[in-house]
Amino acid sequence: MDRITKSLHKQIDDLGESHASPIWLTSAYNFKNADTAEKRFTGEENGNIYSRFTNPSVNELEQKIAILENAEDAICFASGMATYTAIALTFLKQGDNVLIAGGVFGSTSVLIRKIFSKFGITSTLLPPQNPESWITNITQNTKLIILETPSNPIMRVYDIGKLKKQIPENILLVVDNTILTPIFQSPLKHGADLVINSLGKYFDGQGRVVAGAVAGSNNLINQLLQIQRSVGFTLSAFDAWLLSFGADTLEIRMKSHQQNAMFLAEKLIQHNMVEKVFYTGIEKNNDIIIKQQSGFGGLISFKIKTDKMGTIKFINSLKLIKICTNIGGTRSLITHPGTTTHCKYTNQEKKAFGIDDNLVRLSVGFENSQDIFEDLDFAPTQLSNKI
Ligand SMILES: Cc1ncc(COP(=O)(O)O)c(C=O)c1O
Repeated sequence: MDRITKSLHKQIDDLGESHASPIWLTSAYNFKNADTAEKRFTGEENGNIYSRFTNPSVNELEQKIAILENAEDAICFASGMATYTAIALTFLKQGDNVLIAGGVFGSTSVLIRKIFSKFGITSTLLPPQNPESWITNITQNTKLIILETPSNPIMRVYDIGKLKKQIPENILLVVDNTILTPIFQSPLKHGADLVINSLGKYFDGQGRVVAGAVAGSNNLINQLLQIQRSVGFTLSAFDAWLLSFGADTLEIRMKSHQQNAMFLAEKLIQHNMVEKVFYTGIEKNNDIIIKQQSGFGGLISFKIKTDKMGTIKFINSLKLIKICTNIGGTRSLITHPGTTTHCKYTNQEKKAFGIDDNLVRLSVGFENSQDIFEDLDFAPTQLSNKI
């Protein structure tokens, strides 16, 4: 059976006569007797104890994500960043080293480089332009490699399968799939050990929720669950319930985002204000994209032929497109990565990662594509001397 069909029909076990899954808003669960309570606590019997550990609404979402990501299991957390924190707490110890693809989402880099360094974990930023050289950075202490493909915002793609073959078995390869979602890319099939989705992006798709998920083998997800039980960055049942409905429409929404994004990318390439467009849908001859992706998603970045001030003015001149750092909403959203999502990188790092002053990132929504284009097309006329 197709994974989309399976995921759609994966609902909580106890539906009663309800068609839609009811929400399990409960902090704890009644045991039929004290013996059952003991067995659940010792792990002799499976079942709910307390919603910091498990909750049927969260579990429904986790099972849908596992199906979509072709994983044995999945686990949800209160945010995408909490997934990274959980992975670090679970799989790293003092003295270990993490390799991070340069240019990943700013908070991911801050978390590992600034926060986990306090606990004796070292990290190395890998040069994004030269993945061939990455394995030379591996030391005996390297335990984790983190990458986004395509990367946010510059849309660099990395060959997951090739990298997995080159690295020692004890190193976990973690791939952030937020931009394409499991609809257009299955990192586990290509060799990733764990796949992350920031669920407040395309999974929710309506800008309502902050959440994250990790999918992978039973063994790895079970280790994450043990950490989550103690640390407590649990996803709320309400947010999980909303996201589960989001998961049901993910495929059709991703296809619509992509249709509009492709239209805009092709228009922008030809536009005289645009220096360069970053969108995997227009890279027709890239072997990694052909092998690894079944679609291109709804996120486009582009450089404008102007300086930082002109770029900010351009953004401020937009009428329809909202200035917002989220991704994957129904309405189109624009941001200036250099001063927002990636502002914590040094100027030198930004330069090396291609996050230039004239780069903007556009999360393409469901408006009529011509309307989005007209908004972008009109903005430069407001800045006559700059563009
Ligand atoms: C690619 C990527 N990964 C992870 C995150 C972090 O997720 P969250 O905001 O849910 O903590 C983001 C947030 O923008 C992101 O863009």
